[in-house]
Amino acid sequence: MVIEKICCLGAGYVGGPTCSVIALKCPDIRVTVCDMSVERINQWNSEKLPIYEPGLDEVVQKCRGKNLFFSTDIAKGIREADLIFISVNTPTKLYGNGKGRAADLKYIEGAARMIAELATSNKIVVEKSTVPVKAAEIIMKILRANTKPGVEYQILSNPEFLAEGSAIVDLLEADRVLIGGEDTAEGHEAVKKLCWVYEHWIDTKNILTTNTWSSELSKLAANAFLAQRISSINSLSAVCEATGADVSEVARAVGKDSRIGPKFLEASIGFGGSCFQKDILNLIYLCECLNLPEVAAYWQQVIDLNDYQKTRFTRKVIESLFNTITDKKIAILGFSFKKNTGDTRESPAIHVAKTLLEEGAKLHIYDPKVEHDQIFFELTHPSITSEPELFRKNIQIHNTAYSAIAGTHAIVLCTEWDEFKELDYKKIYDVMMKPAYIFDGRKILDHDSLVNMGFHVQTIGKRLSRTNSLRAQGSQAQP
Ligand code: NAD
Ligand code: UDX
Repeated sequence: MVIEKICCLGAGYVGGPTCSVIALKCPDIRVTVCDMSVERINQWNSEKLPIYEPGLDEVVQKCRGKNLFFSTDIAKGIREADLIFISVNTPTKLYGNGKGRAADLKYIEGAARMIAELATSNKIVVEKSTVPVKAAEIIMKILRANTKPGVEYQILSNPEFLAEGSAIVDLLEADRVLIGGEDTAEGHEAVKKLCWVYEHWIDTKNILTTNTWSSELSKLAANAFLAQRISSINSLSAVCEATGADVSEVARAVGKDSRIGPKFLEASIGFGGSCFQKDILNLIYLCECLNLPEVAAYWQQVIDLNDYQKTRFTRKVIESLFNTITDKKIAILGFSFKKNTGDTRESPAIHVAKTLLEEGAKLHIYDPKVEHDQIFFELTHPSITSEPELFRKNIQIHNTAYSAIAGTHAIVLCTEWDEFKELDYKKIYDVMMKPAYIFDGRKILDHDSLVNMGFHVQTIGKRLSRTNSLRAQGSQAQP
């Protein structure tokens, strides 16, 4: 059997871009991305795609209607496909056993049951979602307990490593593709078939094959390692602020060691996104279930440090503004969890905004890609406030950074969008209340020149006094 038709269950941040790239690189394969959400599928079939991702529009335009289709007809998608990706969401469980830590596998189970009910021929079922180790066993049990005569299944693990904001490049030039399968002749055969799909554009030496459980665990491990690096550098940012060291200089010096490497050492207000926290919690829960409390505690610290970093930054904002921000106008620049995406899941900006709103501030928020409704949704959600109307009254969303900043006491930069580096800060200084404050949570602005203009500047991992900065500029001005 050659793979002629692929179906993907889940048209989200992973299913959409991944299948678009497969369609682009495999013109001989017909790819159908299915979702239960009619709205999401309509958006995939429209001019305005449901997610913003650089390069995605071009790929979709090239393939849609040729060998790439978006559909709510899940039954047809499943029935026709040789290979089915399960790319549904696996959020942290919000109820019952494992609440707040375990992955909620109800969507995975739902997808498996749909396949079991609808499939009428042999299928290779590929777990693309991030799952706890042994999740493939659940899928396998559901499928094999419901097998119809003449229908056989092979279950593979093929976790996705793309990062949002660079998904298309990550998919086109993947560091590696990981495929785990059963150690049986049929298992090997299925692995070979999925390898063949990726070999259309990925070098064979970068396609790693393992057993299913190694593949599942490697995904959790990769995210845990990446997040751990961020928590490590963020922990040192606190030391830098207390000592006068500069965290960027420390990161450069440490990262030059080829054993450590320079990537993922940017101190920030904390990591966000739908994956890091969820997947580490998932790993922690797994360790607890395996009676490995020391290992669980080790990884818990990565999350605790991240919470500490978000709180530390917000506390700094409030303390600098004389510990009273009630009715003060504060501009929030950036609301997505990182640049080049409109995704707000677990964005550190939510924590910052929530805390400032609780203190009675009036927030003026601008983000180049996040929809206005999404910002209101995040900040009035029951998990954020019991007084949504009060919060709503104190939030204004703007279409430009300049309009958000006019008349404010402070700018709090939460996301590292490039356009924030290009703003005319002289002009901005003139339209702000004085003293004018900037809190650069991403360490992307030219702090010395801002201080020179008259701003009070605070950032992550670097102590900035007006005197130091003015000296650095060679200015004679007094602090
Ligand atoms: P998402 O929430 O954007 O998309 C999931 C989609 O699945 C939703 O549109 C939902 O309606 C749909 N769905 C749920 N059950 C379904 C079913 N039975 N049939 C059809 N559709 C169904 O999620 P995402 O960000 O794309 O993440 C998907 C998985 O990939 C998660 O396990 C996540 O951890 C993992 N992952 C995400 C990223 C990322 O950057 N977002 C990167 C790597 C891995
Ligand atoms: C992450 C993984 O990188 C990716 O491999 C996996 O498939 C999904 O989870 P993503 O969450 O989309 O991807 O973005 P990523 O670039 O990893 O950033 C996550 C968070 O860490 C962001 O809030 C980002 O701003 C922050 N970050 C990243 C830092 O604070 N410092 C850094 O040096 C890097």
